Amino acid sequence: MNTSTRSHLQDLAIFGNAPAFAEKVHVGRPNFGNRERLLSRINDMLDRNWLTNDGPYVREFEKRLAEFLGVRHCVAMCNATISLEIAIRALGLTGEVIVPSFTFVATAHSLQWQEITPVFCDIDPKTHNLDPLQVEKMITPRTSGIIGVHTWGRACDIGALEEIARRRKLELMFDAAHAFGCSYKGKLIGGFGRCEVFSFHATKFFNTFEGGAVLTNEGELAEKMRLMRNFGFSGYDNVIYIGTNGKMTEVCAAMGLTSLESVEHFVEVNRRNHLIYGRELEGIPGISLMAYDAGERANYQYLILEINELEAGLTRDEFVTVLAAENVLARRYFFPGCHRMEPYRSYFPHSALMLPETERLCRRVMALPTGTGVDQEAITRICQIIATAVSNAPAVKARLAESSSRGTAA
Ligand SMILES: Cc1ncc(COP(=O)(O)O)c(C=O)c1O
Repeated sequence: MNTSTRSHLQDLAIFGNAPAFAEKVHVGRPNFGNRERLLSRINDMLDRNWLTNDGPYVREFEKRLAEFLGVRHCVAMCNATISLEIAIRALGLTGEVIVPSFTFVATAHSLQWQEITPVFCDIDPKTHNLDPLQVEKMITPRTSGIIGVHTWGRACDIGALEEIARRRKLELMFDAAHAFGCSYKGKLIGGFGRCEVFSFHATKFFNTFEGGAVLTNEGELAEKMRLMRNFGFSGYDNVIYIGTNGKMTEVCAAMGLTSLESVEHFVEVNRRNHLIYGRELEGIPGISLMAYDAGERANYQYLILEINELEAGLTRDEFVTVLAAENVLARRYFFPGCHRMEPYRSYFPHSALMLPETERLCRRVMALPTGTGVDQEAITRICQIIATAVSNAPAVKARLAESSSRGTAA
């Protein structure tokens, strides 16, 4: 790291100074558990000569995960996208399904992939999750279900969504990709709706390299998903269902078992980082750090800032550029919103009209680096860059405009 401070305008890299960080600092660098435990598990796996197809690690992982989350059944898979596709199919969803646009595009793609129309619904600007009042407005005779997303690991308004689903006779499931170890009304996410889908991608709170799982309390549904995950095979040479290949490998399950042993440590580090960011950013005009509900369990995996341009004097995108020049790769999650991505943009060219809060949030939100790869000093430096940019906003804006008119990166 470059040790010079960033407290004056001319210290910033956009004015030609060396970047504050010699190496790029990414959002979503992997958290991993004890290396020796992982390697010893991989050695055992090689000794056993059993690499995939419902092996002993996958079974142990499913058992441990179900116990940890307090849910009856866990079906581990190769990633969350396939898990979503399988869960959607196993629930028999058809026609239209209501989802937020403010989510990773996999939520929408997992429907469209099987020719089910994702109907994008607006969010509550306070929670960044589906707004139940808007959900109700999006229901048509073709609607078969609702997929809530627990964005940033903060639970949807599950109670309100359950009530709508019951009254309107719709299926309800959740994309819980962000929400491992998070709770709703004191109960860990995993057992709500008919099923919940987790992602164990390398960027997630807890990872299996790539991976995912569907959790459900319904035995029959779990069995159906197990068949679908393995081409529909029910024993040797006996295919009784349409299926795909959604299997988790043994090496991924070994990583998962190892990660699971360090979950408390990951939370502790993320929580500490969140507290430091909160302290360092306090009082900077126009910058608000998304809070986690102190009464619930959270994994603190997402460090989310909302930028109020009028107060900060700079747009979110200008902050992203200033930080990128310092080698801090802040992310514009979820930009520009699924409804502005293909094929949805072409299919529903006017959907933005129904999504004012999504549109607004997509312009304001920025994720900063956190996790076990980020230390206190790095956070202080990142926050100092932000503070210096805000207190010199007009000069920063002018400099960025000048660089962009010259066609150079600031
Ligand atoms: C909300 C959400 N849903 C689904 C996914 C897809 O997960 P995976 O990469 O495991 O397929 C992700 C992230 O990648 C996500 O953030």
